[in-house]
Amino acid sequence: MNNLFRIGILGSGKGSNFAAIADAVAAGKIPAETAVVLGDVETAGILAQARERKVPAQFIPPGKFRTKLDEDAERAFVTALQNARVDLVVLAGFMRVLKGDILRAFEGRIVNIHPSLLPCFPGLESWRQALDHGVKVAGCTVHFVDAGVDSGAIIGQTAVPVLDGDTAETLHQRIHAAEHELYPRCVAAIARGEIAVVGRRVIWKKP
Ligand code: GRF
Repeated sequence: MNNLFRIGILGSGKGSNFAAIADAVAAGKIPAETAVVLGDVETAGILAQARERKVPAQFIPPGKFRTKLDEDAERAFVTALQNARVDLVVLAGFMRVLKGDILRAFEGRIVNIHPSLLPCFPGLESWRQALDHGVKVAGCTVHFVDAGVDSGAIIGQTAVPVLDGDTAETLHQRIHAAEHELYPRCVAAIARGEIAVVGRRVIWKKP
C-alpha cells in the first residue's frame, strides 16, 4: 500500500472540475490518488465520468431534504469517505450544504469551489448575480468549508473580466474554464503541504 495523499470528491452535476482534477492527478501535477467519488444524484455525469476513469464511484441517496443531507445520508457519506481513507474532501459541484457529521469528521479538510470572487455573491448562480449587479470583474474561489454557506477561509481566487457583450452563459463558461485551472492548483498545494492556515488567512508557502 502506498502513502499517497488521498482525495475524495463529492459532486451532483456534470463533473468537469472532477475531470480537471483527475487529469492533473494523471499528469503527475497533483501528488495524490483520487480514492473515491461520491454523488447524491444517481444519474450525475460526475459518477459516470469517475467510472469511465476506473475511479471507485458511489451514489448515496441524500434523504428527505432538498438542500442538505439527512442524518443517515450524512453518516453514509462519512463512512464511505473514511472507508476510502480520504485525507481531503473536495466538493466539486455538490449541491447540498454540509451540516454536522462530515464537518466534524473532516474538520479543516474539506474544500469547495465557488463561481464568484467571494465574499461577493455566495449562493446559487453567482455568475448571474455578478452580471446583474454590473461588476466588471467576476471570477472563482476555492475555499475551506465551514458551517456557513460559501464562508470558509479563502485558499485561491482567479479573476475573470466581465465583457460588455457577456450573457450569463458566456460569463459562466469563462468562469468554468478558470475553475479548471484554479482547483487542481489549490488541491496540489494542499496535497504537498504547501499551505498554512492562520486565522482566516491561507498562506501559500510556495506561491
Ligand atoms: C462549478 O461551477 C462550481 O463552481 C460549482 O458547481 C459547478 C460544478 O461544475 N460549485 P462541474 O460539475 O464541476 O462541471
